[in-house]
Amino acid sequence: MTAAVEAGAGPEAGATSLAGRHVLVKVPATSANLGPGFDTLGLALARYDDLEVSVRDAPGLDIEVHGVGEGEVPLDESHLVVRAIAHTFARAGVALPPLKLVAHNRIPHGRGLGSSGAAIVAGVVAAKGLLEGIVEFSADELLDLATELEGHPDNVAPALFGGLTIAWVTPDGPRHKKLIVHRGVSPLVLVPEHEMSTALARSLQPESVPHEDAVFNVSRSALLIAALIQSPELLFQATEDKLHQHYRAKAMPETDRLIRMLREAGHPAVVSGAGPSILVLASDPSERAAAIALVEASADTAWQALPLAVDFKGATVQNA
Ligand code: HSE
Repeated sequence: MTAAVEAGAGPEAGATSLAGRHVLVKVPATSANLGPGFDTLGLALARYDDLEVSVRDAPGLDIEVHGVGEGEVPLDESHLVVRAIAHTFARAGVALPPLKLVAHNRIPHGRGLGSSGAAIVAGVVAAKGLLEGIVEFSADELLDLATELEGHPDNVAPALFGGLTIAWVTPDGPRHKKLIVHRGVSPLVLVPEHEMSTALARSLQPESVPHEDAVFNVSRSALLIAALIQSPELLFQATEDKLHQHYRAKAMPETDRLIRMLREAGHPAVVSGAGPSILVLASDPSERAAAIALVEASADTAWQALPLAVDFKGATVQNA
């Protein structure tokens, strides 16, 4: 982090040089894990939350939420986007100015599509935009800020940077590598009506796993990188997993049933993030259409089918 205008940084900058600032933020949905890549791999998907954040003349906080979460999420300083903005201003050492936030949300909540990661990333990049010319953040610092709030980097990395991301944690903080996905890869997200808590899903994970299961996942996650960037025909084998999905299956039996049905028909289906949505990493658009037809003909509960492109840009922020 660098203070671009030395005299401007510091608690007084919030009250003075930020007056009138106004940014527009767009942040993609994400799917984490992708089968074997638990807490490591993530994919940005072309479904977006849009936010406007401006510095108010009057004191206080004014929040409007439209679309997903309207009437449900808190409209005070506990709002996740506001917490992420405050966290980033605190790291920069700049006092938080009075803010107006207008959110237009399209990413489903509690479904394993990275809505909390998107809210956190939206706050971090909004703060970056508001502080432009006063404090500059590196990509690693943005990832670090977002990961501190989210707890693990696999959703926030693709939400920040787009594409397919490998994220890992070092003693100096989280790091990422962005990769461009093969253009044949055709993601399909299947969203059920019910939610799943990430905390509950994580509580079902064992403290340790058999060595042979760890080796199994090392092989499949290495293969998955090759399949996603170069050889989509390997996606079915590359999406096998023994580290998390079966431990969590009893908490989401409908998801487990539909994944089994899709995989028995040869589709590379996995739990999206902590669930309960399903991600099918089809290797071309016709395979994706076949998966949708199978779900429509056979699923015993309601699933919304979202054929989504890969987002290659990640979160964007611009001055309004
Ligand atoms: N890797 C995370 C998990 C993603 O599966 O718990 C959901 O936040």
